[in-house]
Amino acid sequence: MSKKEDLDNIKYFVNNCRKCRLQTTRNNPVFGEGFLNASIMFIGEAPGRNEDESGRPFVGRAGKLFDEMLDSIGLKRNNVYISNLIKCRPPKNRNPSKIEITMCSEYIDKQIEIIRPVVIAPLGRIAISYIFKKFELPFEKINRIHGKIYLIDNFLNKLKIIPIYHPAAVIYNKKLKNILLADFKVIKQNI
Ligand code: URA
Repeated sequence: MSKKEDLDNIKYFVNNCRKCRLQTTRNNPVFGEGFLNASIMFIGEAPGRNEDESGRPFVGRAGKLFDEMLDSIGLKRNNVYISNLIKCRPPKNRNPSKIEITMCSEYIDKQIEIIRPVVIAPLGRIAISYIFKKFELPFEKINRIHGKIYLIDNFLNKLKIIPIYHPAAVIYNKKLKNILLADFKVIKQNI
């Protein structure tokens, strides 16, 4: 099967997922999108209001900042793959619960397996914490680990994890913008 067929298959399960309560309050699940042979895969936390309305990742305010960051390293949306740890919007954008993460994470795990990126960049504490646990990396505060390169050497392929701040954090703390720009440069040098 092609990557597209494999992803369409998972998307079908996401669209029909009833594993947690989030499906009762969301409008549209947000599966993720982008270049299927991308060497970089960004993983956000969960859809917000705009994403829930459109069914597409990072289309709101944080998405605008994300596009600006991509642009700063000469990339466009169709050069990268973007998804979220959680596919359905948590009400009022609350943090996803442990059980929601447990239930939903099989989807991002499969997306990672199918896309097989060279670099995974989890955005923000919740996505970073999940990816670090998955790859058995020691999780520390984001201000100590952002922009660092964690090499995962499994026998199938080499993978780099580069954790970064969530672009939404820049909305609340303008000082983070230059830090995020610098971390995007690190990503660019590693893909
Ligand atoms: N924040 C996220 O983590 N993901 C989105 O898709 C939008 C905002």
